Amino acid sequence: MKEAAYRNHQHYINEGWSSEPKETFKSLARIIKRYSEHQDLNLLDVGCATGELLGFLSTEFECYRLVGADITQGLLDTGARLLPKAEFVLASALDLPESFAEQFDVVTSIGCMSIFNESEIESFWENLFAAVKPGGLVIVLSPLNEFGVDAMIRHRKRQEGEPGSWETGWNIFSQETISEIVANHSVDVKFERFRIPFAIERRDDPIRTWTMQTENKDLQLTNGLKLLIDHCFVVARKSVV
Ligand SMILES: C[S@@+](CC[C@H](N)C(=O)[O-])C[C@H]1O[C@@H](n2cnc3c(N)ncnc32)[C@H](O)[C@@H]1O
Repeated sequence: MKEAAYRNHQHYINEGWSSEPKETFKSLARIIKRYSEHQDLNLLDVGCATGELLGFLSTEFECYRLVGADITQGLLDTGARLLPKAEFVLASALDLPESFAEQFDVVTSIGCMSIFNESEIESFWENLFAAVKPGGLVIVLSPLNEFGVDAMIRHRKRQEGEPGSWETGWNIFSQETISEIVANHSVDVKFERFRIPFAIERRDDPIRTWTMQTENKDLQLTNGLKLLIDHCFVVARKSVV
């Protein structure tokens, strides 16, 4: 089977930023306000797409430095146009520039962790922690499994009767696995469930999430992979040695 890659990014360019900030972004801002000692920040967002989160956070905080990293140049070009005061850097979460070392008060990564598999996940966390200052915060949003199961998932969409390429983006790690990895860098980690407060309609692209009612939840996120998606914020403070 061919290597799976993350490909579902074109809608970020086609649709631009939403007129209302995403609920995940608002929850993240509340978390930063609760946990960060400073309100004036150097911020790095890994897997930043077109910089929409950086744009939102720059309205909520005094930001000295806003940096976004992503692996798709088209996304970064759009970000640079929409948010000229930010720096957009072509870099993988698995290979961030050495110049990022201990530069940031807060490092975020929203919807990106589930791209990485069992051989990449430790490097993902190591890189985020390398970029944050001692005592700074790493905040990651991802679906997590509470049953002690790590699920590595590949999918492909059929379009016009033909199978597309294999894609990644929906790996779901257990909370235990992530706790063990994060414990190498932080003694202070919290998990906070994210709950979507309103219904989302299904769209043409079956990979994008929508809500459905289940026995236990009125607003359960799902998608065309037939997953039950329960996002969680992992909030970890880098140890000061
Ligand atoms: C699901 S999107 C989330 C975008 C944005 N964080 C948000 O919440 O709207 C995942 C993002 O991760 C980026 N990405 C994929 N592989 C990456 C990698 N190895 N390193 C950094 N970013 C990556 C994609 O290009 C895409 O912008």
